Amino acid sequence: LTKPVLWKGFPNVISSDQFDPQFLVEELFTLANQMIGLAGEGGSGILQGKSIFLLFYEASTRTVTSFKRAAKLLGADVDSTENAKMFSSAVKGESLEDTIRILNGYAYDLIVIRYDQVGGADRAANCSDVPVINAGDGNGEHPTQALLDLYTIYRYFDRLNGLQVALVGDLFNSRTIHSLAYLLAKIGGVRLALVSPSVFRLDDSTKASLIESGCQFRETSNLLDVASEVDVVYLTRLQKERLDDARKANTWGDKGDVRVCINDEVLSKLPKKSIILHPLPRSDEFMELPEKFDGDPRVRIFQQAQNGLFIRMALLKMILG
Ligand code: CP
Repeated sequence: LTKPVLWKGFPNVISSDQFDPQFLVEELFTLANQMIGLAGEGGSGILQGKSIFLLFYEASTRTVTSFKRAAKLLGADVDSTENAKMFSSAVKGESLEDTIRILNGYAYDLIVIRYDQVGGADRAANCSDVPVINAGDGNGEHPTQALLDLYTIYRYFDRLNGLQVALVGDLFNSRTIHSLAYLLAKIGGVRLALVSPSVFRLDDSTKASLIESGCQFRETSNLLDVASEVDVVYLTRLQKERLDDARKANTWGDKGDVRVCINDEVLSKLPKKSIILHPLPRSDEFMELPEKFDGDPRVRIFQQAQNGLFIRMALLKMILG
C-alpha cells in the first residue's frame, strides 16, 4: 500500500484527510474504474479466503449494502451486526474496545464500523489487529462517502481542479460534509460556497482546516446567491438525530432569505453543466431535493450512490488484495 492510505502506520480508513487527491485520481479512482467492469461481469474471486465484519451501531441503507455487495463481488466472506446498539452486547454495557477485541479473535481480516459518537472508528482502530474502515462516526466523518462523492465529481467533469462547489444544508452536523470539505480543500483552485441557516454553519474546527489548506470559501444562507456560479451543488438533510438545544428543527428550512432546498428558481439559475449531489437519505419532511426534480439531468444522486459500490470494491481490493 502507498503511504496516503495509512492511518497511524496501518491501512485503516478513518479520516478523508489521510488521502492525497493525486493518489485518489491516479490510483483509487483508476481501480474503481476497473471495478465497474468487474461488477458488470458478476465479480471475481480476488478476495477469496478473506473475511469482513460490518459492525453498525447506526442505521444504513447505502453504506452497509454497498460494502456487503463489494465484498461479495470480490469473493470475500461477510458477517455483520447491523443494529449493534440493540442486538450486540453493547446493550449489556460491553465497550466498543472489547467488541473489537472479540472480533479480532474470530479471524476477520477487516472491520467496517459505523458508530454513533465522534472518534468511534479511531478507537476501534487503536485496539484492532486488523484494518478498520470508518463508515461514519457520529457527526465526525464519513470518509468513504467523501471518496465516492469526489469520484462522482471526477467522473463527470474529468477533472477536480478549479471547480466551484456549494456545500448546502446542515453543515454543522453532517459528517459527509466534514469529510468532503477536508478533501476538496486540498485540491488546487477549488472554491467553496458554504450555504446554511446561520446556526447550522460549518464548525470552527473544519473551517480552520480549510483556512490552513488555503482553500477559498464564503458563507451565505441563500443558495440563490451562488447558484449561477457553481459546478456542484452538494445538498444535505437536517440531521434530526443529532440536534442540540441550539439547533432545533424550527430553525431549519427555507424562510425569508434562507434557502437550502432545490426549487424551480434555483434550477433556473444553475449552469447547464452543473451537477446536484446528495449523500442520501433525503428528507421527506424538509424536501431539500424534491423527487419531482429527479428527471433533471443535473441530478446525479443515484449514479453517486452506485459509485459507492465501485469505490468500496476498490478500497477493499487495495487493503486486502
Ligand atoms: N450516505 C449514507 O451514508 O447513506 P446510509 O446512511 O444509508 O449508509
